[in-house]
This record gives sequence, structure tokens and C-alpha cells, in this order.
Amino acid sequence: MTRDVVRKARLFGERTEDIESLLSSMEADRNIASSDVLVDMAHLVMLTRQRIVHEDHAKTLMKELLAMYESGVPSEAFDPSYEDIHAGIETILTSRTGSDVGGRLHIGRSRNDEVATCLRIRTRDIILDQLEALTRLRKVLLSVAEEHITTVMPGFTHLQHAQPVTLAHHLLAYEQMFSRDFDRLFDAFRRVNCSPLGSAALASTGYPLDRICTAHLLGCDQILENSMDAVASRDFAEETLACDAIVLTNISRFCEELIIWSSSFVQFVTLDDRYCSTSSIMPQKKNPDVAELLRSRAGTILGAFVSAVTIVKGLPMAYNRDLQDVNPHLWRGISEVRRDIDLLAGMIESAQFNRDRMAAEAGKGGTTTTELADTLVREYNIPFRTAHHIVGRAVRDGSLDLATLDTAAVEYYGKSLSSLGITNEKIENALAVNTSLSVRNLPGGPAPETVRNAIIERRKELEKDICMISEKRKRIAESLHELLTQARRIAQL
Ligand code: ARG
Repeated sequence: MTRDVVRKARLFGERTEDIESLLSSMEADRNIASSDVLVDMAHLVMLTRQRIVHEDHAKTLMKELLAMYESGVPSEAFDPSYEDIHAGIETILTSRTGSDVGGRLHIGRSRNDEVATCLRIRTRDIILDQLEALTRLRKVLLSVAEEHITTVMPGFTHLQHAQPVTLAHHLLAYEQMFSRDFDRLFDAFRRVNCSPLGSAALASTGYPLDRICTAHLLGCDQILENSMDAVASRDFAEETLACDAIVLTNISRFCEELIIWSSSFVQFVTLDDRYCSTSSIMPQKKNPDVAELLRSRAGTILGAFVSAVTIVKGLPMAYNRDLQDVNPHLWRGISEVRRDIDLLAGMIESAQFNRDRMAAEAGKGGTTTTELADTLVREYNIPFRTAHHIVGRAVRDGSLDLATLDTAAVEYYGKSLSSLGITNEKIENALAVNTSLSVRNLPGGPAPETVRNAIIERRKELEKDICMISEKRKRIAESLHELLTQARRIAQL
């Protein structure tokens, strides 16, 4: 093993494997290795511009950094005997350029602000991927909804038939949930995409660093100002985990429905074979395994979230090594969320929804009795609670025909419905699924026309969100382009 440049002078004695394995963050640092090269390049560009590092030294160092940028961080840098990837990369750079050159990269910097910056820019990129995936999912939901504006189905409360809705209305409910997930993550992005660089260990540094310059070169929207906050805070990680935990909780609810809907006694949906598995013993089986695993993912991320906040809880200012232990939970929690969102979108897009089965259930279980009670209120001025009692009593007696309703009405209202001019035909009309749906045309209701308009409005929102992400992407790409241009110029000086 190469003796790491950080430890060399101050401390003595070989570490045991146990000590090394506890201390090393190398496995989790695989997530930030390429970010670390960018952070090194931005810091060196700034040190050169500020004339803190001489151009000749900068040139030699930058050539090595650009080589790492182009061909990837060499595998030796990941030797677990280094405490982390920062020590690994610095040791390799120093061995390649000599200590007189390599030893200058860390001027005015600590691994504390370095790691915090790497974590933030990596997390920001992951959030952007997730935001894009959420827009793809929303797009799928809107286009499947559009095909099912008149596909009637029962809406449930307590998993009991409640009132008729349409599949489109049901899908729009999820679209709104995922659109709020988008808003939450987009808002978190603002707080994640800040640069701690220049804060050094905790108290910043006496070198004339240009913090705004490094922030800009890394595509960060601003610097994280207070130097102690910048190195000690991990609320950006907690917040991202929390936002993603909500995304996965919403995904989990949808998957639970797909699992129920695809069961043989419900048969509302047939999932595409690609998303299903079979049994090693029961030849007939088609199991919704993808939906099941997506349902379980919320559990995993909640564990990661609780681990992260519990590690940070109670830590005194400023940096403590405990913070390193947050990182594996962050990556475990957020790395696969983009994939999960895309899988749900693919599963919905390829699913076959069974219109006949949904329609067959839409009017069952008394789903339209609310509308019958409402008709008694609207057209015959019966108080709602009395109408509710009359219809409820008839349901208990097992029939909604006029004779049964009349008996109930005499008991609860003192007169029969027939005496008010109510006919069997009127009752049938009130109990029709389409009546129930079409009168529920308030904003956000299931009436087909209302849903058609809602889809138009939701598409406009979606377009706005898509533009917002592409602007963010563009700004970051421009910054990184500038970083590379300046880095290459220094390498060629
Ligand atoms: N690997 C460390 C982390 O992830 C980097 C910072 C180490 N700083 C220190 N003072 N030991 O937190």
C-alpha cells in the first residue's frame, strides 16, 4: 500500500484491517469519485486565477486531473487503506506529479468542505434525473387517463365500494401526487445545489479564495455561506431522502392497487408479462413481482432516512466523523429512485385495463345510493340526514325499489315518497352510474367533461415543469463546459 499523504507525518503505527475497514468510506465514495475530480479541477482553476498556485504547478496538476476526468479515476485510488477517495486521489496525484506540485492542490481546503461539495453536486444530479423521470411518469398517467375518461369503475373507501369514478379520475389523482413530489424535490434542489467550498475545515481560510468562482464553475446556484454550517450540515441529504421517501410511498400505494387489481378475483388490470414472474413449482402462476418490489422500496428508503437523521441528531458543531456514516444511507436511499419511477411508468403504459370488469363493478355495493339520497334532497327538499336514513334503511332491508323506500320514508319522514310524486323510473335514473358521474362536475370531480379539462390543465403544468428542468440542466452544462475550457487552457499554458 502507498502511505496516504494525509496520515504520513503526524501519526504512527500500522493500522489493523479492522481499524481501516471502520474508518474507510471508500465503498460509499465510489458515488462521488468523479465529482471529486470536478471539485479538484474547480478549486485548482480558482487557485490559479487568484495567483495562489503558480501556473507551472497548476499546469502539471491539471494535466493529471484532466486525464482522470477523461479516463476515470484509476482503480488504485479506491484502495481501502486510504481513508477515503479524497486521500486516494490526492495521493495518486502527488505520486504522479511529485510532492512539490501535488502538495499544492489542497491549499485553503479541507476534506470537510471537499466532501460536502462532492455530496451536494452528486445529489443534485441524481435529483435532476428523478425530476425528469417524474415528468415521464406524469406524461404516461395523463395519456392513459385520456383513453379512459369514460371507463367507469368503483371508487373505494376502506377498500369497500364507495361511489362511481372513472379510471381517468383515479389516474389523475396519482398524477397530482407525483406532481407535488416533483415540486417538493424541485424545491429541495435549491437547497442542495449550493457550494460549501472555501469553508475549509470549519473556519474558512486566510487565503484569498474566490468562493463564488468555484461555486459557479461547479454549476451551483450559490455558496453555502457560513463556513461551519457548510461543513457540518447534512439537512440537504435528510431532505432529499425525505422527499424520495414520499415519492416511494406514493409509488407503493399505486403498486398495492395494481397488485389488488391484477388478482384473479378483481381482474381490473392485466400487467404485461415483462413485469411479472412465475412460480418454480406452480405452472399457472403469473405474479406481480415488479409491483411488489416497488411496493417494498418505501420501506428501504424510510430505513435510510431514519438512519441518516439519527446519525446527525445530537452532533456538536462542526464536522464530526459520524457524518461520513450518513453517506451510505444517502446513496442506498436515493440511487435507485429514478429507476423505480420509470418502472412504474412502464408498467402502467403497458398494462391492459379491463373496461368490462370495471364497469361491472362500478354500480355494485350501493355505489350510487349517495346520489339517490342527493336526489331526494335536491328535488323533494327532504333534509339530507333524513334522506340518508331513508336510503340506508332500504339498503338494510335489501331493496331500493319504491315500495321499500316508501316504508322507510314513512318511518323517518312521516310520509311516503310516492306521495311526493317519486316514481320507480326516477329512482332508477338516480341510481344509474352515469348520473352519479355526470353531476359530479365540480373542479376536480369525475364527470367526463371535467376530467377532459383537467387533463388539458395538467398538461400545461407538466410542460412548465419540463422547461424548468431543462433550464437547470442547461445552466449546469454551461458551467461545466466553462470549467473544462478553463482547465484545458491551464493544462496548455
Ligand atoms: N470521508 C470523510 C467523509 O465522508 C471526508 C472528511 C474527513 N474529514 C476528517 N476531518 N476526517 O466525511
